[in-house]
Amino acid sequence: MHLHKYEKVWLTFGMASLVIFLLIIGFAAFWKGTHPQSHLETIDQNNVEAHDSFKPENLGLTEVADGKYKVNIVASAFNYDFGVDKDEKPVKTIRVPQGSTVLFTITSKDVVHGFQVAGTNVNMMVEPGHISRYEAVMKNKGEFTVVCNEYCGIGHHQMFGKVEVY
Ligand code: CUA
Repeated sequence: MHLHKYEKVWLTFGMASLVIFLLIIGFAAFWKGTHPQSHLETIDQNNVEAHDSFKPENLGLTEVADGKYKVNIVASAFNYDFGVDKDEKPVKTIRVPQGSTVLFTITSKDVVHGFQVAGTNVNMMVEPGHISRYEAVMKNKGEFTVVCNEYCGIGHHQMFGKVEVY
């Protein structure tokens, strides 16, 4: 088969463009850790309890299947509400076994907050009126601090929690 000179040029150009495109996407997705949009669902910020995920009894950690968990959280100035334990005390630490898949679902009652589990890929912006979700596999054992990484007011630095992977 004989290829015309210009056919070769355009074929090479096309292939090169494809390779460059894939490299850029790969760089953004795997090296920079860019996620798809995680806050497409909306909610009434003045009545978050009306949503099933944010009813007081549904907050915090729930095992949904073997090795699969969900964590529902309500953020507000300046607290993460992970529900209460058996003694009605606020939960501050979420404990899951290593290798488990955890779906974090969070919303805000007031202003924009952040929800970052430092040392993992979990890092979301939490906007009032929106529901943010992110599912992560907890690959490494350890204690990971949950921090608010959006400045939300005077008590911004007091917003924290902990995820313990055992
Ligand atoms: Cu909430 Cu900063």
